[in-house]
Amino acid sequence: MPVHLYGQCADMDSFGRIGDEFKVAIIEDAAQAFGATWRRSRAGSLGAAAAFSFYPTKSLSAYGDAGCVTTSNPEIAERARVLRVHGSRQSYHHQEIGWNSRLDAIQAAILRVKLKYLEPWNEQRRHCAALYDRLFADAGLISAPAAPPIGLLETQPQAHHIFHQYVVRARRRDQLRAFLEARGIGTEIYYPIPLHLQACFTYLGYAEGDLPQAERAAKEVLALPMFAELRSDEQQYVVTAIADFYS
Ligand SMILES: Cc1ncc(COP(=O)(O)O)c(C=O)c1O
Repeated sequence: MPVHLYGQCADMDSFGRIGDEFKVAIIEDAAQAFGATWRRSRAGSLGAAAAFSFYPTKSLSAYGDAGCVTTSNPEIAERARVLRVHGSRQSYHHQEIGWNSRLDAIQAAILRVKLKYLEPWNEQRRHCAALYDRLFADAGLISAPAAPPIGLLETQPQAHHIFHQYVVRARRRDQLRAFLEARGIGTEIYYPIPLHLQACFTYLGYAEGDLPQAERAAKEVLALPMFAELRSDEQQYVVTAIADFYS
C-alpha cells in the first residue's frame, strides 16, 4: 500500500515490481494526491484500487468527513459498493457485514463545485513550492558550507507533485516551530510518531531504534504554510523568519 505522501506519487515502478514478484495487489493511499501523476498517469489509476480522502484539510475537501475509492476492476467496484452500504445489494438483504460509508449528497454537491478548481489550485500550489525553493536557496539556508539547517525534499522527475504539503527537514525543528509560532506562522508536523512506535502497534514488537530513518524523519519534518492563495510576500515572511532563527 504505497502512500503518495504530501502530494507526490510514491515510486510506482518499484511498487509495480514488488506486486509482480510477490503476486500481490497494489492499493494506493491517494488521500493527499488529487491530480498528482506518475509517468503521466494519475494517482488513483496506478494500482488495483485507490482510496482518496475529502477530509476538510485535504486539497479537495468536503465540509465534513468524506472519501472515495477508485478502481477499474469491476469486481472490486461492485464489492466496494456493497460494503459501503452495510453489505447489502438489495435493501434489507445483507450478504455480508459492511459499513455505513455512503457519501452524503450535500458533501458530493460541494465537491462537484470544488473539483472544477482543482487543476488551477494545484498549479498555484506548485508555483508556491517553486518560490519557496528559490527563497530558501537565495537565503543560503539549503547550501551552507557545513550541514545546511534546512533540507528540501526530493522531487522525482517521473512525478507531477501537487504539493498538498510543502515539507522541509529542519535542524532544531521544535525550537524553530515555536519561534515561527511566536511570529504568527502556523506549521504542522506530518507525522510526529512513526507507525512502528504507535501504541496501537506495540503488539508487532518494534522498539525505538528499529527504523532509524523513519524516526529521524519524524524528528525533522516541518510542513510550512501551503495553500493556493498563499501570497509571495507571505512566503518571503516565512523564509525571512526561518533565516532569522538560524542567524
Ligand atoms: C495519507 C493519508 N492516508 C489516509 C488518510 C485518512 O483519510 P480519512 O480520515 O478521510 O479516512 C489521510 C488523512 O488524514 C492521509 O493523509
